[in-house]
Amino acid sequence: MKAILLGTAAGGGFPQWNCACPTCSDPGLVPRTQDGLAISADGNDWYLVNASPDIRAQLLATKQLRAGPGPRETPIKGVFLTDAELDHTLGLMMLRESAGLEVHGPPAVLRALNDDFAVRPIVNRYGAWTWSAIGPDQFLVGLRIKVLPVSDKRPKYVTETTGGPWVVAYRFEDPATGGVLVYAPCLATWPDGFDEFVDGATYVVLDGTFHDGGELADKAESTVRAQTVMGHLPIEASLERIRELGAAQPGTAWAYTHLNNTNPALDPATSQYAGIRAAGVKVPPDGTVLVL
Ligand code: MLT
Ligand code: MN
Ligand code: ZN
Repeated sequence: MKAILLGTAAGGGFPQWNCACPTCSDPGLVPRTQDGLAISADGNDWYLVNASPDIRAQLLATKQLRAGPGPRETPIKGVFLTDAELDHTLGLMMLRESAGLEVHGPPAVLRALNDDFAVRPIVNRYGAWTWSAIGPDQFLVGLRIKVLPVSDKRPKYVTETTGGPWVVAYRFEDPATGGVLVYAPCLATWPDGFDEFVDGATYVVLDGTFHDGGELADKAESTVRAQTVMGHLPIEASLERIRELGAAQPGTAWAYTHLNNTNPALDPATSQYAGIRAAGVKVPPDGTVLVL
């Protein structure tokens, strides 16, 4: 299995267009597009996992995903969604010229994309796509794919007040190589069952939105606000769990994605970045290729 980290920033990207903070204003820091990745079992057919509003630039920047070999062919065959947030779904609109994409996601997410952010009826008028609810465990696109509900944080635009799960993590297993990739860009907590979900993984990509709750405007609300209001477990909390698991399972590589523009780990000169690297965890840039 191959995977490409197409984007590694949270909603708004880095730098964020409406932010003049010192980090966003530092011309020496590497820009990051909004979170998403591409996976392929065979290196020919590729599936996006989340479709950010930066998808056009991400596809054009990635030679494996450029159109071809036929004049109107593209290697992109479908999309898996972890949630219905706009930074993970606006890209579906950009893909409307592509006929016959298959979209897989949790039922509540597919509902929201029909009822509230109506991308589904809109793109269906451009090309016949298929929309399928993802189950907890299936064999699809040459991979065994397991799904873990990780949070019930609804997007702000959703009017439905029940339902869910609203956010899931994916575990992609390649039966041919034994490689396992876990992708969990939005974790409100270290959820029940997550230790088992990452067990034996080759590479885990997880929520690195905030380093600590102190980054938020109201610092007094701290970590609790990061988790409950924003739906993102801060790195300072998840790093503890990774240290514990990492000691027991040295074969797993860990990396953070979905970095918010407030995150000091965007700057390799900070102590926060150094602390992450000292724990053996990566903060990989856009375009990182994984062979698993
Ligand atoms: C999130 O990750 O919490 C959302 O994408 C927030 C947003 O950008 O609306
Ligand atoms: Mn987001
Ligand atoms: Zn900023």
